[in-house]
Amino acid sequence: MSYSWWRVGTIYQIYPRSFQDSNGDGVGDLDGVRGRLDYLVWLGVDAIWISPIYPSPMHDFGYDVADYRDVDPIFGSLESFDRLVGAAHARQIKVILDFVPNHTSIMHPWFIDSRRSRSSEKRDWYIWRDAAADGGPPNNWLSNFGGSAWAWDEATGQYYHHAFLAEQPDLNWRNPDVRAAMHDVLRFWSRRGVDGFRVDVVSDVIKDAAFRDNPLNPAWTPGEPEIRRLSPTYSTDRPEAHDVVAGFRRVIEEFDNRVLIGEIYLPIERLVAYYGENLLGLHLPFNFHLLSVAWTAPDVAALIETYESALPEGGWPNWVLSNHDRPRAAARVGQEQARVAAMLLLTLRGTPTLYYGDELGVGHVEIPPDRIQDPCGKRDPGLGRDPSRTPMQWDASPFAGFSTHAPWLPLTPDYETRNVEVMRHDATSILSLVRSLLHYRRRSAALKEGEWSLLSQDSSILAYKRGWGEYSIIVVLNFSGLPRIWSNPAGGEPRIAISTHGDRRAEAVGTTVPLRANEGLMMETARASNDVTPNKPTDPASS
Ligand code: NOJ
Repeated sequence: MSYSWWRVGTIYQIYPRSFQDSNGDGVGDLDGVRGRLDYLVWLGVDAIWISPIYPSPMHDFGYDVADYRDVDPIFGSLESFDRLVGAAHARQIKVILDFVPNHTSIMHPWFIDSRRSRSSEKRDWYIWRDAAADGGPPNNWLSNFGGSAWAWDEATGQYYHHAFLAEQPDLNWRNPDVRAAMHDVLRFWSRRGVDGFRVDVVSDVIKDAAFRDNPLNPAWTPGEPEIRRLSPTYSTDRPEAHDVVAGFRRVIEEFDNRVLIGEIYLPIERLVAYYGENLLGLHLPFNFHLLSVAWTAPDVAALIETYESALPEGGWPNWVLSNHDRPRAAARVGQEQARVAAMLLLTLRGTPTLYYGDELGVGHVEIPPDRIQDPCGKRDPGLGRDPSRTPMQWDASPFAGFSTHAPWLPLTPDYETRNVEVMRHDATSILSLVRSLLHYRRRSAALKEGEWSLLSQDSSILAYKRGWGEYSIIVVLNFSGLPRIWSNPAGGEPRIAISTHGDRRAEAVGTTVPLRANEGLMMETARASNDVTPNKPTDPASS
């Protein structure tokens, strides 16, 4: 029985502006990523997902694509991309690209043509509507980045729709020519060797055909982001989005062994619909619920149980702890609990996505007002995403080994100690912990493939089992800042394999297990051999 790489592997997200600069301009690039692949091998990840690298005026730092078939000079070229893919594959690392189908840049030739006149060949490739009777926008839809989701085009006397910045006009996915052109983009990169795609805001690609007003959100309170004022009933998660996803999947299936991941912020019951009918939708609809769950043992336990039981038969789970849009794990749960969070991420059932820098415990980085880059942060510093996008910290040199030039965003104030070079030599660092967990996971059938079951949960302890019967791993997480004793309902004498504190507690424990404050323990049952896949009663189908 062999499992697809994307089921058993760990994905590592790289924000390319911030991973490694190779040409001294203070911004990361593809040759920089290539130069750091050996670190990723050492760390123990299996795939990299790179946020957009396409030519872009960078109004939204690459999520405004001006050409889907090239690389922005700031990141390199198609040749540097090919070199990166070759070098990654030589190290058994897969490469996943970001694919941005919902919108282009205003600088994309399709939009330039579309806005030229009402009779342009590409007019219908975007969403153009007449003004309302009062001359205002056609409906009440809001942009995710603030204000109306409609921009007035003086020259042609119509509004165009933009779910994000006005510089990011939405494509019209009801137009078959748009679908065909974008499918060819997937083929273009698949032929170039990419192993899959992370599809941006995939649940938002289709809008209500009648453009009905969105209803007011009764849960909204003043002070919350404006976008939450309305429930996005008619602008997101329309039933027809599933046809678009199925179309992507059909294209992906023309190639061997590729993965389709989608960015979807939806409640669990609607999220899991994106596995598609007969699982012919996304392989991995991103599960972002750890990003917002209240960080307590009962809340996290309830989330895991709800998610596990909502998955369709054969649907493979996945977990995300941080990304480039949300506060980092350490910023949200604190330094001590960041280790517990890492143990959780890397011991749950399903594909983990690890965000670059989380392995160093990088937390919130204060961005001085004059250094804000993110358009959301320029509008409202409280909503800025720069604090989660700061440069990777490799060593204690002036620019942390990231660049020879002042980087585009600041480093953490403690970068001289919070960096790869220092932390890799410290067995008790979070970096060493993450590495141990990744390597253990790689060798452990129970962690990669085993079932998940709750062992016990109280106000501060969450304990669960991974694996099958005697071939299992027990994970006990102390969410509190106090020492606790855990009573092991499973019995036996498990042996501690990894403590989040990083010291060697290679002791066998009995039915009561002492945990230190903020400690997580991963324990092996007597027969949880690391490289045995037992004969399971129900092997999930390999795909
Ligand atoms: C989601 C991306 O993750 C985010 O960074 C971007 O701003 C929006 N989509 C628009 O593309």
